[in-house]
Amino acid sequence: MSARPQYYTRTAQILHWLMAAIFITAWFIGFYSGNFLNYDTDGAFKGNVITLHKNIATPILFLIVIRIFWRYTHPTPALPENMSAPMKKMAHVIHWILYLILLALPITGCLFSWSAGHPAPVLYLFNLPTLIEPNPQITAIVKPIHVYLSWFAGLLIVVHILAALKHHFVDRDNVLRSMTSQQTKD
Ligand code: HEM
Ligand code: HEM
Repeated sequence: MSARPQYYTRTAQILHWLMAAIFITAWFIGFYSGNFLNYDTDGAFKGNVITLHKNIATPILFLIVIRIFWRYTHPTPALPENMSAPMKKMAHVIHWILYLILLALPITGCLFSWSAGHPAPVLYLFNLPTLIEPNPQITAIVKPIHVYLSWFAGLLIVVHILAALKHHFVDRDNVLRSMTSQQTKD
């Protein structure tokens, strides 16, 4: 059996932090639009904010494909030995769910937009091909999925970040460094 590395590969690290930055930014913009703006009083501005939300979030769809491919073709660091088996299990389950969320949020976001007759633009450069016709019955299903999933995602990310900080500052192990650093040559 080959030994597991101490650090994520540089590519995995760049993908993690780039997607984390996109995800958190898109999350706050979506939350702001969904909960603090309404069409009656903020019409055009709300439209612009939603457009910004979409343009920032859609690249996640491309990046997650590369990331999953990279994940399955490169070994990842083992969790610290002093972590209990249930905690290790929980960390793995949360990582799995985060990957699912990284797929499901942009997909439901696109279905939500297309079904409501709107485009899904990418970085203000081009629109994704529209895969479904406008259909209010589909909007009625995918909109709540997108909204509730985004809240659940927000909660899980907070747990994820607190866990990373606890590893670093309380347990003082290598978990956070495994996502920020590379092996230095002795
Ligand atoms: C990682 C990606 C994404 C995250 C984290 C995310 C997050 C969110 C959040 C937090 C909300 C507000 C929910 C609420 O009302 O409380 C939201 C709303 C929304 N999202 Fe996303 N979203 C993502 C991707 C997308 C994509 C790719 C699209 C479309 C192409 C999209 C379209 C929308 C729309 C149309 C709304 C409704 C905004 C409103 O009602 O003002 N989202 N999203
Ligand atoms: C400031 C924010 C964040 C910090 C400090 C952070 C920290 C970390 C750390 C230290 C790891 C390595 C864990 C281990 O070795 O078991 C990790 C892994 C991971 N993070 Fe984050 N993260 C952040 C944001 C996010 C966000 C926003 C997402 C996705 C929505 C995310 C998704 C993941 C996933 C899926 C893994 C598992 C990687 C793998 O083993 O394949 N992270 N994160």
